Amino acid sequence: MCGGEAGEALPAALAVELLHNFTLIHDDIMDGAHTRRNKPSVFRKWDSNTAILAGDVLYAHAFEQLQPYAADERYTRAEYAGINKTFLDAVVSVCRGQAMDMEFEARDRVSPDEYLDMIHAKTGALLACSVKLGALAAHAPGHQVHSASMLGYHSGIAFQIQDDLLDAVGDAAKFGKVIGGDIREGKKTWLTITAFSKASEKQKERLAAVLKMERPPQDEVDHVIQLYHQLHVIEAAQSAVNDHYEKAQACLHQFEDSEYKNKINNLLHQLMVRES
Ligand code: IPE
Ligand code: MG
Ligand code: MG
Ligand code: MG
Repeated sequence: MCGGEAGEALPAALAVELLHNFTLIHDDIMDGAHTRRNKPSVFRKWDSNTAILAGDVLYAHAFEQLQPYAADERYTRAEYAGINKTFLDAVVSVCRGQAMDMEFEARDRVSPDEYLDMIHAKTGALLACSVKLGALAAHAPGHQVHSASMLGYHSGIAFQIQDDLLDAVGDAAKFGKVIGGDIREGKKTWLTITAFSKASEKQKERLAAVLKMERPPQDEVDHVIQLYHQLHVIEAAQSAVNDHYEKAQACLHQFEDSEYKNKINNLLHQLMVRES
């Protein structure tokens, strides 16, 4: 959409993919998550030390992918520096988001703005970086780089709210993760925050109690999921997801029509109805 050749963006794409996998390996340690992509998570299959090291190595390999831009004479030093900074800023942001995510576990309440700040940092930033790097690889002008970043950012916010939603009501086989994991970990997700805003005092007490339990029994986890249905939190989450994908589409419409724009539009439609 920004011109250039797809191959020029490939090293950056590989860097993002490796970075993403590194964050997931470490995230599963932090979240005590046993299953990823329908398989045992790395720290469950081996151990935490191995998973920490595997993540660190993936991170080094991710960064290594950006080196060709330094040697490629089609990129100025300033452009290479911009690519590096975009990538490193995203890494710092994801770490900040993860720190907030974990800090919120220990808190009784988290405001909707705090939650948005957290998912902006942990997921919005990664998707924004991904699309922005494509624009930078194509030497796009500033306004296109901005629209590309915002397209990624809104997709990331939608993706994370949807991730929170699927964590409670998804199909485990398709989602590839254990359903109810966020409730067991006491996560403050879009669902818990919205449920707190709609619940009666009694319902709030029970919700808070389950989120605080070290190992809540399955019927308590099921009770929270039922509460989400009862309070229409599920529909509200789905409509928040749609709103953010629509914002992403509005960013997309700032680009001229092209086959690439159609492909991204199709991708956004697929993401909107994703179950995995
Ligand atoms: C993690 O969010 C996002 C990262 C920065 C890795 P989650 O903890 O909700 O991701 P899942 O549900 O384990 O995939
Ligand atoms: Mg997780
Ligand atoms: Mg997490
Ligand atoms: Mg999740």
